[in-house]
Amino acid sequence: MSGSPRPLSAGSTVGDWLDHPEGGALLRELITEGGADPAVLAPARGLPLRQLAELSQGRLPDEVVQGLVRRVNGGLLPEEQPESGWRERIVPDRFTGRTVVVTGAASGIGRATAARIAAEGGRVVAVDLAADGLTSLAQETGAAPVPADITDPAGVERILAAAGDRVDGLANVAGVSDDFSPAHEVGDEMWRRVFAVNVDATMRLIRAVLPSMLDAGRGSVVNVASEAALRGSAAGVAYTASKHAVVGITRNCAFMYGPRGLRFNTVAPGGVATGIARDLQWSEFGSERLREFHRLIPPIATAQHLAASITFLLSDDGVNINGAVLPSDGGWSVQ
Ligand SMILES: NC(=O)c1ccc[n+]([C@@H]2O[C@H](COP(=O)([O-])OP(=O)(O)OC[C@H]3O[C@@H](n4cnc5c(N)ncnc54)[C@H](O)[C@@H]3O)[C@@H](O)[C@H]2O)c1
Repeated sequence: MSGSPRPLSAGSTVGDWLDHPEGGALLRELITEGGADPAVLAPARGLPLRQLAELSQGRLPDEVVQGLVRRVNGGLLPEEQPESGWRERIVPDRFTGRTVVVTGAASGIGRATAARIAAEGGRVVAVDLAADGLTSLAQETGAAPVPADITDPAGVERILAAAGDRVDGLANVAGVSDDFSPAHEVGDEMWRRVFAVNVDATMRLIRAVLPSMLDAGRGSVVNVASEAALRGSAAGVAYTASKHAVVGITRNCAFMYGPRGLRFNTVAPGGVATGIARDLQWSEFGSERLREFHRLIPPIATAQHLAASITFLLSDDGVNINGAVLPSDGGWSVQ
């Protein structure tokens, strides 16, 4: 609101850059030179500039970001400023003594969730198709990596074997997007794949950990849905239907097992800066129809923002919350 602007670095948010007199002009100029409308930056206001570069798939290389930082600081690369905006605050021991299975742990929201649980003392069984991502997570956090396809019952067996007799928590984070295709276009293959990962595997993993949780008389499951579980204007028909199904699974399990000491909740993320939609060819019809609604959504979040919501519900801090669908979307759900 007042005073001189903070010095800008690669850790400053896109919002800080845009609001800075010289930084804003330089960043807008760069985007325009790249042939895009600077308005594309609006959803990324909350992200550190460095993360925008990571997500740009080479369109905004690191050297260009460094050049921008130099230019706005009179030719010098300033000492790294602490990142502006929100920062993750680890709650020591929140998961100490707990074994938590996290799917999708090699990337995005699952990785951030696994890292946070490990940092808070939990034993993490980290599951993903992508073995490389799991190896680096394991090196950084001590999580136990289980490369597995969650749509394969043999993969689920391996996950249970790695977890051992006692599973205290399950974060069903792995998921796949659709291509925004509406019902008249969606192919059987797309439908099957989206349901196999987002719905069937979620159910199968819950079924697999239930005996251990019922035995212990306690356990916490968080299923990751999406804004597409709350509305029809977020994605294509397959993804929308699959995430509505995730809410149905959550509510039924919460009802059935609440009296046995188990809690089941859903987090519904809005836009999050991850690689989920990296290789998709969007349906023209679907994207055209969704575009004007997507333009209005709040700025996208980071994976760590989502890990904060997921670990809250997963941990004992979520005591007394069962069957909830928590939008973690910067307010998209009230639009
Ligand atoms: N990114 C967003 O904007 C957004 C928005 C709403 C909901 N979500 C949901 O959040 C969850 C995490 O997505 P993300 O954005 O972190 O995406 P991501 O692509 O970064 O991570 C998803 C991970 O799931 C793994 N995975 C996919 N299929 C698998 C399978 N069959 N077996 C094992 N692992 C598998 C992938 O390898 C990947 O590492 C998903 O359920 C997604 O639907 C994401």
